[in-house]
Amino acid sequence: MSTHPATAPIEPQRDLKIPRHLGVIMDGNGRWANQRGLSRSEGHRAGVEAVRRIVGFAIEYGVQCLTLFSFSAENWRRPPDEVRFIFGLLRRFVSSDLEKLHAQNVRIRIIGDRDGLDRGMRGTIDDVESRTAGNSGLNLVIAFNYGAKTEIVSATKAIARKVSAGELRLEEIDESTIDQHLDTSGLPDPDLILRTSGEMRLSNFLLWQSAYAELVFVEENWPEFDESVFVRALKSYTKRDRRFGGIRT
Ligand code: IPE
Ligand code: IPE
Ligand code: MG
Repeated sequence: MSTHPATAPIEPQRDLKIPRHLGVIMDGNGRWANQRGLSRSEGHRAGVEAVRRIVGFAIEYGVQCLTLFSFSAENWRRPPDEVRFIFGLLRRFVSSDLEKLHAQNVRIRIIGDRDGLDRGMRGTIDDVESRTAGNSGLNLVIAFNYGAKTEIVSATKAIARKVSAGELRLEEIDESTIDQHLDTSGLPDPDLILRTSGEMRLSNFLLWQSAYAELVFVEENWPEFDESVFVRALKSYTKRDRRFGGIRT
């Protein structure tokens, strides 16, 4: 949406369905950079600008929860320099943008395995989460050092511990027990998962939570993400007939 309707390339879509929870697999930073003769780091840097844009669109269009896949448990397989650079970017992003996000009433949550992170990083994460915990606007969830299978293993262990301690009976375990022990506990399941760069896979992102998510794949690389890509994804989502196993009434 633009504040200048006369010159706006995109008209606000009154009939656009807005997902309550949008998950984004931000892929293609490296290819974007490669196509321009730039380093992969430049691609990741440009990716941070796209993060700023999507947070703005999510607020503007009324998405309640936005989960961004920033670093996967499998991304440790990359060269150490690239891993270090991505870690530095996240730290700089949260410290430089924290005040603005806080002023916009954004609540930040970081999901993923914290044990694999250094103390400085864990401190930064605790700080942004506690600073914004009381905010009631957009829930911005950053999946960092996140892998859905590891998340499910951790939840299983936590539940098993409760059973063996006599705090929980085996018969009481149901889907909501699992939900409550995942990193995303308390958040609605994603309605829409968007992946950029033309890849059509989930790469270990929110596997349990996405059981009934709509999937949209776009060709643009993540640094190219803009309002037209966002609106195109929402239009595609709006056309979907979500039946959840039932039939259309
Ligand atoms: C996404 O871009 C960012 C991360 C996975 C951290 P990539 O770095 O995967 O970019 P491509 O897929 O190599 O183009
Ligand atoms: C998925 O992208 C992870 C993130 C976007 C953070 P990858 O680039 O790591 O995924 P694969 O390896 O192509 O499946
Ligand atoms: Mg990739």
